[in-house]
Amino acid sequence: MGFYKGKTLKAKNGENVTIRSASKDDAKHLIDLGKAIAAEKIYTMTDVDEIPSDLSEEIKWIEKYSSNTNNLLLVAETDNKLVGVCDFEAGSRRRISHTGRLGLGVAKEFRGLGIGEFLLTTVIEWATDHNTIEKLCLTVHHDNDRAKVLYEKLGFVEEGIIKRDIKYSEKKYVDSILMALFVKK
Ligand SMILES: CC(C)(COP(=O)(O)OP(=O)(O)OC[C@H]1O[C@@H](n2cnc3c(N)ncnc32)[C@H](O)[C@@H]1OP(=O)(O)O)[C@@H](O)C(=O)NCCC(=O)NCCS
Repeated sequence: MGFYKGKTLKAKNGENVTIRSASKDDAKHLIDLGKAIAAEKIYTMTDVDEIPSDLSEEIKWIEKYSSNTNNLLLVAETDNKLVGVCDFEAGSRRRISHTGRLGLGVAKEFRGLGIGEFLLTTVIEWATDHNTIEKLCLTVHHDNDRAKVLYEKLGFVEEGIIKRDIKYSEKKYVDSILMALFVKK
């Protein structure tokens, strides 16, 4: 099972933030967080109505991570509130199981406090210690400067541009940047 037992860190506003694996008890809060971030309508691939409202569907999504040792679903919690999420899903076929894709999101009111960095650092530590994971990949909207700065700060390197990767409307496409980090020396 992809599991991280948890650690508590201090955010830049002085609040304690716990980074831990998600459990099915987090389902409702994860739905709320996912919908709030998607409702901003920038920098995410998912639209609000694509996030399940149904708890059992969300629990299945959480179990996809907790039931597979190559996957990890982390949450950031402060004062009993979920304020951040980071997921990593490894390739499901043998030849791509050494690599996988991660996603990251922090609630708007809690950005700039170091929480994104806590989540990302934790995934990197977990992957570095993992038996088989060698490479973390992600895509980021080409104009998402905040996220790109964070990824570069933690060692991710640009590997290419995916043209017209995201389609917001008939007239609006966005290119993505593919970034990756090799975690084994
Ligand atoms: C991208 C995101 C996850 C970053 O999370 P965060 O908690 O705000 O990031 P942190 O506070 O940990 O910031 C870490 C670093 O990012 C950079 N950063 C933060 N805010 C920034 C800003 N406004 N402009 C440029 N860089 C910024 C800085 O390098 C910062 O490091 P520093 O504190 O040493 O200066 C968050 O902004 C978010 O959820 N955005 C919406 C969804 C999204 O874009 N997800 C990523 C999809 S690929």
